[in-house]
Amino acid sequence: MTKSPFFQTLLAKSIPLVAALFLVSLWATGCPAPTNNEQATETTTEKVADGSTESTPEATAEKQVEATPETQAEATPETQAEATPETQAEATPEATGSLYQRLGEEAGIQKVVGDFVNRVVADSKINGYFLNSTVDGQRFTGCLFKQIGQATGGPQKYDCKGMKETHQGMGISKQDFTDLVGHLVDSLKDAKVAQADIDAVVAVLAPMEKDIVEDADNNKTFYQRVGRRPGIEVVLNLFLVRVVKDTTVSTFFANVTNSDRFLTCFARLVCNVDGPCQYGKEPALGEKGADDKKPCLPMADAHKGLGISHQDFTTVVGHLVDSLKEAKVAQADIDAFSKGVVGTVCPDIVAVGKDQCAKP
Ligand code: HEM
Repeated sequence: MTKSPFFQTLLAKSIPLVAALFLVSLWATGCPAPTNNEQATETTTEKVADGSTESTPEATAEKQVEATPETQAEATPETQAEATPETQAEATPEATGSLYQRLGEEAGIQKVVGDFVNRVVADSKINGYFLNSTVDGQRFTGCLFKQIGQATGGPQKYDCKGMKETHQGMGISKQDFTDLVGHLVDSLKDAKVAQADIDAVVAVLAPMEKDIVEDADNNKTFYQRVGRRPGIEVVLNLFLVRVVKDTTVSTFFANVTNSDRFLTCFARLVCNVDGPCQYGKEPALGEKGADDKKPCLPMADAHKGLGISHQDFTTVVGHLVDSLKEAKVAQADIDAFSKGVVGTVCPDIVAVGKDQCAKP
């Protein structure tokens, strides 16, 4: 792409806005049922009849500390790590001390938690939940440390919020949960924790799933159905190829100088429709091109002065719809998306022919 300030402004502002509009419309309209692009494979979650008891560190602490066949049985196949000769060597019946001690006590657990958080933040499948300026990373890390310390027999006292209260309304899916726990398993493996001890930690976490997961089949939201952020990025890349080829609208996109920011803001816009990203509340670190000092712009501001016609808008929307089709997003989702965009997003973006926005 060529680079010019004009293009940068245009891209950074107009594309994300267009996409956001689409998505916002979709969100306002509601998404019909699903064909999942990315997943929907494992549904091994045990359903808890009434969800009456919330998982608390106190409750889990009593259950844990040592790995037993009973607690190991609670770990899901997805979260259980493969035993390697290295870890097997350490996971012997001769293992001594409490689980807390074998994890390396305070320093060992802090290291694992730090490594785990880095992995989570780097994983675009789930980092949308965390990369918002509303999330206090230090608090999260500290709470997790206390939680694991207490649950494994350490002196820490968990004084943060309960799991149900903390995660309520986030729409966390089974696959989000599995991915997150998988990162903890990987951090424990890298720290050379014995397999039996990893299983014991996983067994502490597994019962919390019922209080954390709200979307057991990974299909309640457009965000999950489209394939979470990686799926959104696939669609956006297809979209970019289309608009750059189309000379009737390519000038709006061709001069973007900060493509990282453009893609970040566009992806966050789509993710914001009914997913975990909070558009405009970018964190200080962790997102390319956008942060709390330069947050993604509100749609109306972003399109101001660009002179976008209704025809331009319709053309760009058409490319987005075609990209969704190409990415094999379900037709019902595409229909809701494209229907919603007309009328809701249109007036904020279109400068010439705004009166046509009301027409279906
Ligand atoms: C067994 C798995 C999990 C454990 C043990 C866990 C634990 C915790 C803890 C201790 C906190 C801090 C509570 C507080 O601030 O008082 C927290 C917050 C949070 N968790 Fe989880 N969590 C788990 C799964 C997940 C998953 C799967 C996601 C999303 C993919 C997630 C997203 C979040 C977010 C975004 C926050 C911050 C909320 C805020 O500050 O507004 N958690 N979690």
